[in-house]
Formats: sequence, structure tokens, C-alpha cells
Amino acid sequence: MLPLKVHHIGYLVKKIDSAIHSFIQLGYTVIQDTIFDSFRKVHICFMEKDGYVIELVSPADGDSVVTGLLKKYKNTPYHICYETVSFEKDFHFLTEHGFTAIDSPTPAPAIGGRRVVFLMNASIGMIELLEVV
Ligand code: NI
Repeated sequence: MLPLKVHHIGYLVKKIDSAIHSFIQLGYTVIQDTIFDSFRKVHICFMEKDGYVIELVSPADGDSVVTGLLKKYKNTPYHICYETVSFEKDFHFLTEHGFTAIDSPTPAPAIGGRRVVFLMNASIGMIELLEVV
């Protein structure tokens, strides 16, 4: 078992400002204002309620990494992000145990430039692995 810690739940949304408004109505608060991630061409905002952190992700561009996903799945939670102090080791372990990397480790501007990588699993779908620095 890997010593992973849940960092956030990624939530795909078409219009980030409308999504923020709706989550505020549900009692969430913005913990990090919307920023633009130029690596992935998405807008990202972090919100929190009752200790749960959600990451709103919205395409900034027609060829963003989530444009296709949003067309297929509409507004929906779509990944759980796990943080690890052993990024390389756990990334390697996961790729040998049923998880397939769908991109390379890349800095996440919305999370202090820490590296993240996305992986797919046939039974549970997409996860994100985040390094602790
Ligand atoms: Ni995420």
C-alpha cells in the first residue's frame, strides 16, 4: 500500500465563474483564485468545504487537455489527486501495477510548480499524482 494522501478532487466545468458561484451557494469558499495553467491551457480554481478540497478545471482554449473530456462527460468530478513524498518511486510502482501514464510529469503552476502526472486505471479511471516538495 502506498503512503498517499488525498490532496483534492478534480472537477471538470465548462464555465468556471458560474461553477464558482454555484459552489459558493453550496457553502464552499475559494481558497485560491482562478489562475491560468499555460501547460494544459486550462483555468484552475481551488475551493474548500468541510475539509474537502475541489479543483475546478475549465478549458481556456479549444485544444486544452480537458476539451475532449468535457464534451464527453459534461460538468463532473473526474479525478482524485494523491500527493506523495516519493514521487518517482510511487509513479514507477503505479505504472507497474495497472496504472498507465497519460502524460509526463509536468509542473503544475496552480500548485506551486510541484510536478504532477495523470494516470489511467481500467477499474477506477483517472488519478493524479502530485509530488510533495
Ligand atoms: Ni487535479
